Parts: sequence; C-alpha cells; structure tokens
Amino acid sequence: MKEIRLLLDCDPGLDDAVALALAMASPELVVTGISTVAANAPIGVVTSNAEAVMDRLGCRCPLFQGAPRPLIIAARHSTDIWGGDGRLPLEAPHKPATRIDRTGFEKLVIAADVVCAIGSLTNIAELIATGRRPQRLAVMGGALGRGNATAHAELNIWADPHAAEIVFASGIPITLVPLDVTRTLIVPDDMIARLAQSASAPARLCSELLPHAGSNAHPSAIHDAAVIAALLWPELFSRRRGTLIVTTTGIEEGRISFAPERDGPHEVLTDVVHDGLFRHMLRRLHGED
Ligand code: RIB
Ligand code: CA
Repeated sequence: MKEIRLLLDCDPGLDDAVALALAMASPELVVTGISTVAANAPIGVVTSNAEAVMDRLGCRCPLFQGAPRPLIIAARHSTDIWGGDGRLPLEAPHKPATRIDRTGFEKLVIAADVVCAIGSLTNIAELIATGRRPQRLAVMGGALGRGNATAHAELNIWADPHAAEIVFASGIPITLVPLDVTRTLIVPDDMIARLAQSASAPARLCSELLPHAGSNAHPSAIHDAAVIAALLWPELFSRRRGTLIVTTTGIEEGRISFAPERDGPHEVLTDVVHDGLFRHMLRRLHGED
C-alpha cells in the first residue's frame, strides 16, 4: 500500500486516543499533524489529552490547538450530556508537543492526502471559509438511525451542525463513518487483556485506556478508530455513494440525511466485519503485521 500522509483533527477522547495509537502503529500511515477542536470536552482539556497521548506514543508531529467553540451556536460538549470532565487518565507529557499556529495548520491540511476529522467539523469549516480545502476527508460522525447526543443527532455533528453543513456542501470528497457502523465496536475484555501483554507502546496505551471506556464522558465504543481502520482495511467495510445533508435547526438539529446517487461526492460506510476488524487491530497494535 502507498504511504498515506494524514492529519488528525480530533477531540481526545478515549476513542480518539485509540485512533491515534492505531495510526502510529501503522507503517502505511504517516501522521503529519494533529489539531484539536472542542467537542468531547472544552478545548483546553482535549488539547492536554492530545499532548499526553502523543507523548505516550512518541508522536512528534506538530500540534495545533483549534476552535474553542462552534461557528454559531454556544459550546456543547459530551461532558454536558454524560458528566465528568473528559480528562484521560494519563500522566502529564514528559516532552511538550511542538505547537504550530493557524498558518502552519492550514499548510499541513492542504498537504495531507487525507484529513481524518474525528471531532466536530469546526476547524475544517473555518478553513473552507478562507477558500482553502483539504484534498480528502474521512469523517467520524452523524447517525442515519438513532443518535447518541439526541434521539436524532450524533455528538460530532450535533456539537457544530453549521460546520457540518459547510463541509458537506463543499464538494470535497468525504468518506463518512457514521455512528450506525461504530456504536457496536466495543473492544472485548479478552482483547484488552492481550493488548496488556504487548511490549508495543500503542498496544499498552490502548490496554490502559480501554478499561475506562464508558466512563468520564468517554464513549464505550471505539468510534474514531474505525476511520483509521477504514483507511487500512477498506475491504472490511460496506459502502454507498451519494449526498449528505444536515439539519441545522429545530428538534432534529444535527440529524444527517443521505440521498444515494452513483456519482455523489460522499461515501457513507454502512457496515463492518466486527471480528475481522478486532483481529486486524490486535495484530497491528501488537506490531505483528
Ligand atoms: O459520537 C462519537 C464521537 O463523539 C467520537 O468522535 C467521540 O470521540 C466523540 O467525540
Ligand atoms: Ca472524537
């Protein structure tokens, strides 16, 4: 597989941390930058979580602290819904990350083969508003069925529906991994036990964090890691092409709708082979393939 340069736009978040661990364990992927956005928790919390995760993984790419609030609405976080403070149970970094400013971030976004957006879409929408655009987006977000933030909306889209509207309407090629596919991706206990026996840093970090899934505003499922898995093992996923739109007002605010069309700009993943995904992830995090 040709090397893929990716920028991770994230809101760590336990599942964001697992996504970064999987990317760092994968020689086909080069993480060229990390940006943070408020969604799971306020921007200071998610950025300090990102820095701690990067330190544990030996990830020395630049870090950009992005949008502290959505484009139009007041700030919303998963901590508001599920309680807790959203901090990851990790030591402070031994070596601080190299911080970059907005100009540096924009350069990295444009140069990346893929931007993996696994928080709200505020940073990406702000960039598009300046006339610049990523080449390709892989997004975790949205629910075609039941939501998790509300009955209709998934958290990343609900946290900034106006940003999602701008991104979906931009014409940028998007692969969307919705909640419908990720909500059942709960790592089994025996896999966590096997990760704990590994000498590899990504496996050990995941084994320490995963027992905290479902607490302190961290999701039970590893939603965001599915975005990385879809880049690595596309054959495990089913997909449909079409056009996505988002509802930005009213009781269904944050709801996504999808109109299938053969040449639509968006690709929505519709299913995943669970066993295959966990098997591949375990081997990869161990450093075995
Ligand atoms: O709904 C799941 C998404 O919300 C994930 O990206 C998780 O990290 C949270 O931000
Ligand atoms: Ca996330």
